Amino acid sequence: MLILGIETSCDETAAAIVKNGSNVLSNVISSQVAFHKKYGGVVPEIASRKHQEKIIPVITEALVHAKTTLDDIEALAVTQGPGLVGSLLVGINVAKAIAYARKLPLVGINHLEGHLLTPLLEHRVLFPNITLIVSGGHTNLYLVRNIGAYELLGKTRDDAAGEAFDKVAKLLNLGYPGGVIIDSLAKDGDPTAIDFPRPMIHDTSFDFSFSGLKTAVRYHVKRIAPEGLTDETIRNIVASFQSAAVDILVAKTLQAAMKFRVEVISIAGGVACNSQLRRQMKEQASAKNIEVLIPSPVLCTDNAAMIALAGEHKIRAKAEFPFKMNAVSRWQL
Ligand code: KG4
Ligand code: ZN
Repeated sequence: MLILGIETSCDETAAAIVKNGSNVLSNVISSQVAFHKKYGGVVPEIASRKHQEKIIPVITEALVHAKTTLDDIEALAVTQGPGLVGSLLVGINVAKAIAYARKLPLVGINHLEGHLLTPLLEHRVLFPNITLIVSGGHTNLYLVRNIGAYELLGKTRDDAAGEAFDKVAKLLNLGYPGGVIIDSLAKDGDPTAIDFPRPMIHDTSFDFSFSGLKTAVRYHVKRIAPEGLTDETIRNIVASFQSAAVDILVAKTLQAAMKFRVEVISIAGGVACNSQLRRQMKEQASAKNIEVLIPSPVLCTDNAAMIALAGEHKIRAKAEFPFKMNAVSRWQL
């Protein structure tokens, strides 16, 4: 089946053409980062306006890259939630219009299910597995028994991991979005320079907490600023912060994998681009004979290929979504 996927839940306008679930013919992503940068975060009103400007050119580009036309598309999948309502509605309305005009089936997808299934675009994934979704809005740990059978084991009780990266970068005036900047600066820093706390790391639940870690960084910066904030100390602070965050994510994911005796772990979402997380998860899991599957960075951050993939499974399961489909801003998977 040839599916057009559309994703507009936050600040990326994305469209992709995916054949038979995993053959990505095109994956176009137009990032709005440049427009939100000066505000230090996503401004919902600007996001919806930019989606409106970009959605048709992005879909057109996806069709051209895939060397296809709307005549060949057999179904549409669109992110229905969770996300910013104004942004979601742009994608949903365009998808409805195309589906109506072309008499094509349309399914609404939970953005988190898209992230969760992403490893299937590049790997043959074994079930059951433990999947960590770690992004700017979520830090969720799932036992995935099969496609469509997800058990939420734990989630963050306060900040998402990506949110903590972004806030730490902001308090050090490093720019936006912070995750990728911290990842790069941390490479030249000493991760043992400051012993930041690792909240809930030994807790028996699978929940996470990152706000205490972020506050510890804030107090440390307050104590040494401004004289103590040299390029070197900043590199050491971000390396120590990143190490604490990664230790928590890896420890909790491994605890879950051991408890449920799975042979595969996967990670998805923007923070899954983090080089230390990718390396440390693989090293520590392989010591326990557990395989780790992590999508390529371009598929970890928000994209529409993952939405088309989830759409293929939903259409096969004959899930029906009528035209009165609406945006769902909060939607737990
Ligand atoms: O999945 P995503 O693109 O959007 C959401 O659904 O939130 O994730 C964006 C998040 C941001 O918080 C960003 O700072 C973080 O992913 N991120 C990273 C890295 N690249 C992106 N965090 C740590 N290290 C990275 N290399
Ligand atoms: Zn996302």
